[in-house]
Amino acid sequence: MNAVDLKVLENKQINNDIYLIKLEGDTSEIKNSGEFAELKLDNYYLRRPLSIHDYDSKTVSFLYKVLGHGTRDLTRYKKGDVINTILGLGNGFNDLNAISPLLIGGGIGMAPLLNLAKRFNEKNIRPNILLGFKNINEVCYVEEFKKYGDVYVTTDDGSFGYCGNPVSFLQNNNLKFDKYYACGPLVMLKYLTKYSTLGYVSLEARMGCGIGACMGCSIETKNGIKRVCKEGPVFDADEVNL
Ligand SMILES: Cc1cc2nc3c(=O)[nH]c(=O)nc-3n(C[C@H](O)[C@H](O)[C@H](O)COP(=O)(O)OP(=O)(O)OC[C@H]3O[C@@H](n4cnc5c(N)ncnc54)[C@H](O)[C@@H]3O)c2cc1C
Ligand code: FES
Repeated sequence: MNAVDLKVLENKQINNDIYLIKLEGDTSEIKNSGEFAELKLDNYYLRRPLSIHDYDSKTVSFLYKVLGHGTRDLTRYKKGDVINTILGLGNGFNDLNAISPLLIGGGIGMAPLLNLAKRFNEKNIRPNILLGFKNINEVCYVEEFKKYGDVYVTTDDGSFGYCGNPVSFLQNNNLKFDKYYACGPLVMLKYLTKYSTLGYVSLEARMGCGIGACMGCSIETKNGIKRVCKEGPVFDADEVNL
């Protein structure tokens, strides 16, 4: 884990309130898909946690949704601006020993799954990817995911793809998997872990330090108290009490 100054290469709107920011610099601290970073924005004391969306030896990108003041201000960063960023946080997706992996993203929860899909491709595995959105206006980034896997889309109101959420899709369709890798709203992860515990869930928690020191992100698991920023954000689905 290390704080580095990264330079903005591009920061573009993908759809409505979803943006993609690509930064350039020393990314050597990133070891795994599913890790996250803490971005220090001008005028904010607390850093903002964002999942690694994609990375290589010189660049890292984040897919983010505008939620409050910090993420709104992040959209204003432009090419050449510098963002001090702590990289190499969290445990990431360690277990890639799936034969039929299923990647499940609810809304902006799709962010950490792109690099994961690429890592499966490196093992000559094309994963199934299930992406859930509220409605057709929120459906985005599907073409990008299609490059790396077979994509299924759900919308809550049926305005695009399957009508329902990703968990009801799984209940009603015969999509085989031996392990799933999921990130999304807590309610989706809760029903997913009731449906099956054959997988991993990436959790969010309000964070203070983001580096394991303050206990502010602690959650209760079947194996005791765990910090989302240190022992997580990726947890065995069997371990969590959602
Ligand atoms: C491990 C992790 C990975 C994340 N990855 C992504 C991602 O890839 N893309 C994305 O769009 N969002 C992601 N989030 C959520 C993102 O951190 C929040 O949306 C963002 O911090 C909101 O900041 P804000 O100033 O716009 O909102 P405000 O509500 O104004 O923020 C106030 C404070 O609450 C914190 N906060 C608010 N919402 C959250 C939240 N959901 N989780 C954690 N802290 C929060 C902020 O960091 C800030 O300190 C992630 C969160 C965590 C914990
Ligand atoms: S945010 Fe401080 S321990 Fe996790």
